[in-house]
Amino acid sequence: MTDLDPCAPIGVFDSGIGGLTVVRALMERLPFENILYFGDTARVPYGVKSVETICHYTREIAEFLLQKQVKLLVIACNTMAAVASQVVKDLSAVPVLDVIDAGAAHAVADARARRIGVIGTPTTINSNAYAQAIHEQGAPVRVYSQACPLLVPLVEEGWLEHEVTRLTCQEYLKPLLANHIDTLVLGCTPHPLLKPLLQEVAGGAVRLVDSAETMAERVAALLDERQLANGVRTPPSYEFFVTDVPLRFQTIGERFLGRGLRNVHVVKW
Ligand code: DGL
Repeated sequence: MTDLDPCAPIGVFDSGIGGLTVVRALMERLPFENILYFGDTARVPYGVKSVETICHYTREIAEFLLQKQVKLLVIACNTMAAVASQVVKDLSAVPVLDVIDAGAAHAVADARARRIGVIGTPTTINSNAYAQAIHEQGAPVRVYSQACPLLVPLVEEGWLEHEVTRLTCQEYLKPLLANHIDTLVLGCTPHPLLKPLLQEVAGGAVRLVDSAETMAERVAALLDERQLANGVRTPPSYEFFVTDVPLRFQTIGERFLGRGLRNVHVVKW
């Protein structure tokens, strides 16, 4: 790996704007890091697309960010991490972190975890990537997975506490709770916004694994280990690249980011 510049930005990418939950966690955990975000808002959702298409799109995005001289690539999208993580690792000269590795490690970090539930898009769940990554940790756990496609539009609609969302969560979590899960991995970028509701539906005894927070911890550890943390103590720069500005982009984006969304550039391939 060539010498990387600690002042260079971290490149974070997602299929849309849900990955801003990861950016938000990074901003809180690493307040001096510069961040470049890419959200493929013109082609989202990825969670129901074929593996071939997702790999193709993922490669384009990773190449775009690498050209911007990022020091690290963060695959914030669970769906891309599930099926295209290797594509990014093969072409990247900078370190690559993905949410699935981070979430899997965190899921088994609590030694009491025995029965782990995972929720995500149909592509993430069908790929079995979470179950594999969790089993690779070597812990004696069972994994139960459930695709939850309706949660993404419900979060985008802002129905974070709405009765419809509660019923939907109850329905999706039913088979996982019937299997007595003790841990629930939130395996999709918009899920962190549903944490209070999911906790309520799952019950207080179930530990929620928030992939955004986990990812921020992983990034901090990697920057430290490779001496890549930005030592400059001035306000960092944040730039956001998207492939489209759909209706309500600003409102939804700010909900995910938890603050004002500025410096947005539209990329036309
Ligand atoms: N970003 C995706 C994920 O985390 C959810 C949205 C999509 O289907 O593209 O899996």
